[in-house]
Amino acid sequence: MTKSKLVVLISGSGSNLQALLDACEAGTLPAKILLVVSNKASAYGLRRAESRRIPTAIFKRRKNVDRRDYDEELGRFIAALEPDWVILAGWMHLLSMNFLRYFPGRVVNLHPALPGQFPGTHAIERAFEAFRQGDIEQTGIMVHVVPDEGVDDGPVLATEIVPIEPDDTLEALEQRIHATEHRLLVETVRRLISGELHPG
Ligand code: GRF
Repeated sequence: MTKSKLVVLISGSGSNLQALLDACEAGTLPAKILLVVSNKASAYGLRRAESRRIPTAIFKRRKNVDRRDYDEELGRFIAALEPDWVILAGWMHLLSMNFLRYFPGRVVNLHPALPGQFPGTHAIERAFEAFRQGDIEQTGIMVHVVPDEGVDDGPVLATEIVPIEPDDTLEALEQRIHATEHRLLVETVRRLISGELHPG
């Protein structure tokens, strides 16, 4: 069976990238990671990729470069590799259509909250605070297609509820969410590759 080709974009720790790397190595995900791109040179995820001999690229946006020009350049660079899927696994830069137009229906994002909840950064902290205020009883995660510049918004591929326990600390909730993400991201990419799930 030919393997699906992935490019993974990260900005930080890369624990979700690690879950994808592990699943590829174990053969439970029929995919090959062609390249890991980070917009931050310090991202630990780059080390994770290197230790599996996966090519990496640091694609930093210089201050004088317009965001749309950066996106265009990044899109062209990645499109040359002809990936089947582009996975945003903790990628902290909002991508414009200059990037997205290269991969219609093929960019997949992971968000540590349920659809429509806490878009943007610090979603877990904000959910934790909302729970403490009595505004929500549970939180969750979602994996979705990125069709446009909407923040953490787009056709939902998978969601999973994550309970918040009354005596949770923020760290405990973060751990529970991340463990759920690692499983759901791999599972969703596997279902996309197999054709069981259709984007958009
Ligand atoms: C995850 O919580 C993801 O949902 C969010 O950023 C975090 C990335 O974590 N978009 P990691 O870098 O994969 O460890």
